[in-house]
Amino acid sequence: MKGLFGRAKVIPVLIFDRVDDAVPTATALIEGGLSVLEVTLRTDTAWEALEAIVTRHPRATIGVGTVLESEQIARAKACGAAFAVSPGFDPALAAAAAARDLFYLPGIATASEVMAARRAGFRFLKFFPAEAAGGVAMLKSFASPFRDMSFCPTGGVGPGNLDDYLSLSNVVCVGGSWVATAGDMAGDDWDGIRTKAVATRNAGS
Ligand code: 3PG
Repeated sequence: MKGLFGRAKVIPVLIFDRVDDAVPTATALIEGGLSVLEVTLRTDTAWEALEAIVTRHPRATIGVGTVLESEQIARAKACGAAFAVSPGFDPALAAAAAARDLFYLPGIATASEVMAARRAGFRFLKFFPAEAAGGVAMLKSFASPFRDMSFCPTGGVGPGNLDDYLSLSNVVCVGGSWVATAGDMAGDDWDGIRTKAVATRNAGS
């Protein structure tokens, strides 16, 4: 699964206010070359959106984000999600994901959290909120003490700093909402989303 993230390089973080936006947004992203997507559980429509995307795009890699409760892990697996992401590191979520055989990407923002997640067996972590927690400089500082750890920075990542993150040896991919924003969806701007996906898919290479 980590290899899949590494090939994807950019993971769109999706927040759906309208369920009808789910399939056109996912289709535009996939057509634009981004086929690992994170549907965040931040809106009432999130589960329906997830199911619609998984049904329409069974070969894409669709995960759930903003996972805070163990029950959400079970529901994500039942919906056909391929991975679960949480903003922080929670051993209860790690246990739930292991029990369901669902790939889990926990978040960390400090050295102590990296150590706790590493102790629990994780070697690939979300760095969140990336910009607010120290950004590129923080990840560079993590590289030497945590030689066996790699990261997916998310939170404040966008076209202006994308290449800086992807150039780091301990960064596998980045996540972010800029590729498909609420404004893009409200304006039915599927062409705009596709264009942004095309522009980012070769980032860092
Ligand atoms: C996330 O949950 O990963 C972040 O909220 C995405 O951050 P962004 O909106 O700054 O890209």
